[in-house]
Amino acid sequence: MTTFSFLDDYSEGCHPDILQALLESNLIQHAPYGSDTYSEEAKASIQSHLGGVRADIHFVASGTMANIVAISSCLRPHEAVIAVGSGHIVVREAGAIEATGHKLIVVPAVNGKLTPANIEAALAGNAHFPHMAKPRLLYLSNATETGTVYTLPELRAISTLAKQRGLILFVDGARLGAALSSNKSDATLADIASLADIFWIGGTKAGALLGEALVVCNPSLKEDFAFHMKQRGGMLAKGRLLGIQFRELFGTKKLFFTMARHANAMAEKLAAGISSAGYLLSAESETNQVFPILPNSVISMLQGGFQFYVWEAQGPDSSVIRLVTSWATEERHVDAFLSKLPPA
Ligand SMILES: Cc1ncc(COP(=O)(O)O)c(C=O)c1O
Repeated sequence: MTTFSFLDDYSEGCHPDILQALLESNLIQHAPYGSDTYSEEAKASIQSHLGGVRADIHFVASGTMANIVAISSCLRPHEAVIAVGSGHIVVREAGAIEATGHKLIVVPAVNGKLTPANIEAALAGNAHFPHMAKPRLLYLSNATETGTVYTLPELRAISTLAKQRGLILFVDGARLGAALSSNKSDATLADIASLADIFWIGGTKAGALLGEALVVCNPSLKEDFAFHMKQRGGMLAKGRLLGIQFRELFGTKKLFFTMARHANAMAEKLAAGISSAGYLLSAESETNQVFPILPNSVISMLQGGFQFYVWEAQGPDSSVIRLVTSWATEERHVDAFLSKLPPA
C-alpha cells in the first residue's frame, strides 16, 4: 500500500512554475556565483518587500548553511549565541554552530519562543567576563520549531532589548512564509527587515527545489559577507539555480505567500478534524505543523497509510506526532487522514 507523507514540507519537488522556469532557462548562459540576471531580479523583488530597509541579499543552498554562514560572520571568536532549547541550531544541526567555535547559551522556550525575560536571565547568568563567553547574538526561528509564530509586539520587544543590550538579532526563516501567512501573525517581511539585523527567507520548505535567501539588513554586517559564504562552501558556481527559483517565488504571482497560505489552510483543516474527533493538540496549530496527541494503538494503525514523525512520548500509552502540510498537500490527503482516524 502506498503511503502519503506528512513527514515534512519538502517531500515534493517544487512548484510547476519553478520547474518550468528552470527548463526554459536551461540552455541560456549566465554569469556564475550569483552574479546572473535571475539572482539580480530575485534580489530586486525581495527588496521591494522590505520597506525602507536597503539590504544585501545572498542565496545559499540549505538552512544549516544559512545558519552557519550568518552566525559565524556576525561573531568574533569569544562571542556566543542565545537560543531556546528547541531551537534548530541547538538540537538538529549536529553541533554545526558549536563547530564554528561559538558557544550556544540555551534558555527555556515559552510556547516555542524566545522571550525578553529569558534573554535577560541569560545575560545575567553569563556576565563573568572575560571568563564566560560573551552573549552577542539572539537566534530565533519564525515560525518556531513547534509551529508557533511571533507576533509583531513580541518581535518588537526582543528587537528593542537587543538594541539596548548591544545584541545582534538573527531570525531563522526556514518557515518564514508559513509564519507571515499565518492568521496569528501581524508581521510583514518589511517588519522583519526593520527589526532583525540579519535573517533568512526559506525557499526549501516553501515550494522551491532548494535554496534560502539570506537578508543582511544591518550595514555593519554587510562588509565581506561574500567572503564568509565562499569560505564556508556556501557560494554556488551555478547560483543561477537559486536565483531563478526566488525570482519565481517573489514574482508577479507571489507564489511564496500563496503557497504558504495553502499549506497553513491544509494544517488548519487537519487540526480542526483531529480536534473534532476528540483528540488534544500539544500545541496550538498556527502554521503548517500539527502536533496531535494520539494513543499509540491509533498511531500504529495510521502508520499503515501515512508517514509522520512520532515526536515524543506522552505517558505510557500515548505520543505526540508531528504532521506537516506543504504547498503540495491536497484536501483529499487531509480528508483521507481524517477518515482513518477513529473517534477518541
Ligand atoms: C527552523 C529550521 N532551521 C533550519 C533548518 C535547516 O535546514 P536544512 O535541513 O536545509 O539544513 C530547518 C530544517 O528543518 C529548520 O526547520
